[in-house]
Parts: sequence; structure tokens; C-alpha cells
Amino acid sequence: MNIDRRKFLIGSGAVLTMPSVAACTGTKKIPTEGVPRSQFDGDSTAEEVTEDIDLSGRLAVVTGCTSGIGLETMRVLAMRGAFVVGTSRSLEKAQAACDSVAGVTSPLQLELADMDSVVACADAIRSINQALDILVCNAGYMGGSGERETSNGIEKHFAVNHLGHFVFVNRLLGRLYMASQGRIVVLSSRAAYSQAPEAGIEFDNLDGSRDYSDRRAYGHSKLANALFSLKLGELLRGTRITANALHPGVINTEIDRHMNRFLQGAFAVMTALGMGKTIEQGAATTCYVATSPKLGSTSGRYFEDCNAVTVVGRGHLHDAVMAGQLWQISEELTRPYLVTHTGPDWNNVERAMRAEPRD
Ligand SMILES: NC(=O)c1ccc[n+]([C@@H]2O[C@H](COP(=O)([O-])OP(=O)(O)OC[C@H]3O[C@@H](n4cnc5c(N)ncnc54)[C@H](OP(=O)(O)O)[C@@H]3O)[C@@H](O)[C@H]2O)c1
Repeated sequence: MNIDRRKFLIGSGAVLTMPSVAACTGTKKIPTEGVPRSQFDGDSTAEEVTEDIDLSGRLAVVTGCTSGIGLETMRVLAMRGAFVVGTSRSLEKAQAACDSVAGVTSPLQLELADMDSVVACADAIRSINQALDILVCNAGYMGGSGERETSNGIEKHFAVNHLGHFVFVNRLLGRLYMASQGRIVVLSSRAAYSQAPEAGIEFDNLDGSRDYSDRRAYGHSKLANALFSLKLGELLRGTRITANALHPGVINTEIDRHMNRFLQGAFAVMTALGMGKTIEQGAATTCYVATSPKLGSTSGRYFEDCNAVTVVGRGHLHDAVMAGQLWQISEELTRPYLVTHTGPDWNNVERAMRAEPRD
């Protein structure tokens, strides 16, 4: 019998997805209308999806470049010629990650739970004084102790995974406007519809004090990632910047670093057996969405296995009203750190317009 091992893993409940299986019942994914289909799938690697793409002269930023999907994304974007800025909470770790890949890279320190660090990192990128072509919001935190943690009164997953990136993107939009075609890629997860609270974003529970579990809080933050990208796509309509969210697959990275050893071990064994994706495959959807010429005007979409999908039957992944509410509360929570954009800086846009469009 021919068994698709990845589907088997997901169906039989790999550690990270196991609790989601029942919750996923009734969920259907259909190809998103109006988005060009790619020839790639869940087995494609980041190198394969970027094979004929030349990123020379492009600037890319990858948050969380020190392990897993972020490291592979940085490696492949740099391999295709981009100048890649990679971030970590530790400058030394970011430096080591940059040193480990070929091409032109530069490390920066970024702690997403600390808004001063977010502002400083964005300012350092702005000081490069170059158009920003690709911004990959990849860094992510997944708790494992069962203990709720907060940052400035906000539940930690939501603060790190969502609010940190919310401010980071806000402060870099000016540089993205300057690009001939700026792309924002947000790493969400299937957890956004399989593990998030049934009601979606719990605006009255942002400190996570009600019904806390790591799994639920992680899903909540990943739903916030997807809705952030959805609203960004709407707000950026008519500009040359796109924003898209994605699920990278189930990959044995360090995302499980806070889980207990039993769960870590079980997950490692399953992925070692070829279930789930390799890290090379895990970075493919990110690299595809960040670089494919087919996606020059695709925005506000959600991708899995290198294709845009619409999830029906469960969850709030495509809930535009909720995305608007999330945007509003995110602005309220981070206002002192935001810059106001009244639109693109037209001098910069004009300069960028003279550059050769990518597609
Ligand atoms: N692996 C999967 O199966 C899977 C599935 C669905 C979605 N995802 C998503 O994919 C993304 C990448 O995950 P991964 O699996 O590659 O995990 P990973 O190996 O743990 O990498 C996460 C990266 O995020 C950085 N990071 C963690 N906490 C941070 C913080 N507070 N501030 C700034 N940076 C921080 C880490 O850098 P330092 O520790 O060096 O600071 C690390 O480079 C995440 O957004 C995750 O939610 C992963």
C-alpha cells in the first residue's frame, strides 16, 4: 500500500499537531481563487522554488535567523544573491548564523518582546538606506511549561509573535515602499485554525488569564499573525507592497525547545522517520511567497505547501472584520512605538518606479 508519510503523520497526530486533529475535523481547504497555482507542493525545497530567481541587489530581512526555517530561508535568499539581514535575540548567535551561510548577510539583535529592541532593530535596518524588498516575519515562540507568561501585561505568545512583528513592520514600511515590489511574508501556522480559541481573537483576554494553555495561546498568536497579514494586504492595496501569511509544514526545528523531553523526543523520532517536512522543505513556502514572479500582485492570502488555500468550515483565518478589530487593538497597545504613515514617501516611490519592475 502506498502511504503518503507526511499525510500519515498529520493524520495520525505528530506531537505538534496531535491535539489539533480532532479540532480539524470538518475543515476543508480549497485552492484560493484568483491566485496563480504553482508547480510546487509540500515536497518542494526552498532551493527548488527559487531555482531560476536572481535576487542580486535585493535587500531581505529574516527575523529569527538562527535556527530552523529562518536559517534555511536566510541561506537560500543569500544563495540567490540577496543581501540578507538576519536577527536573533543574541547578536552573537545572529553573527554565527550569518557566518554559517554563503553570500552577503548581516546580523542584528532583535527581542520581539521588547519594543525598544524592535524600534532599534528597525532603525538599524532603515539606516542601511536601501529599499527593502523582502521582509520575512519568521521568528516565533512556543511555550511548553504550561505556565502563562506575560510581557507588559500581554500574554507572551501574542506579544512576541504578533505585537513585536506588528511594530517591526510598521517601522519598516517606508523602506518597503521604496522597493520596486516589496513583499511582507508572515509565518503563521495551521494552529491558527486548529488550536486557536473557537471565538478567534479573544480581545477581552489578551493577558491570557482565562483558560490558558500553551497550545491555545500559540494558536491564538498564529491566528493574529494571519489576520495581521490579511489586514495589511487590504491596507496596502494600490501600493506595490504585498503581504501574505503561510503555514510552513510540520518540521523538527527548535520551536519545541520549551516542551518536555518526551514530546521533543517523540517529535524528533517521527520527523526522523521521514514524516513531516525536512527543514529544506519547511522553508519552501516562505521562499516561494517571498520571491515568485507569479505572486507580484497577490496579497492578503494564506499559503500552505507553496499554494494559496482558503480554509473553510472552521476558524477565523479569513475573517476581515476580526482582522480590522485586531489591527485597532494592536495599534492601541503599541501606539508609542508606531510611526504614522500618511502614504508612501512619493519622492522615494518615484525613485523606485524608475527601477526595473521585477515582474
Ligand atoms: N516548525 C514547525 O513545525 C512550525 C509549524 C508551523 C509554524 N511554524 C512557525 O515558523 C516560524 C519559525 O519557526 P521554527 O520552527 O523555525 O522555530 P525555531 O527553530 O525555534 O526558530 C525560531 C526563531 O525565532 C527566534 N525567536 C524566538 N523567540 C524570539 C523572541 N522573543 N524575539 C525574537 N526572536 C525570537 C529564535 O531566535 P533566537 O533564539 O536566536 O533569538 C529563532 O531563530 C515560527 O513563527 C513558527 O511559529 C513552525
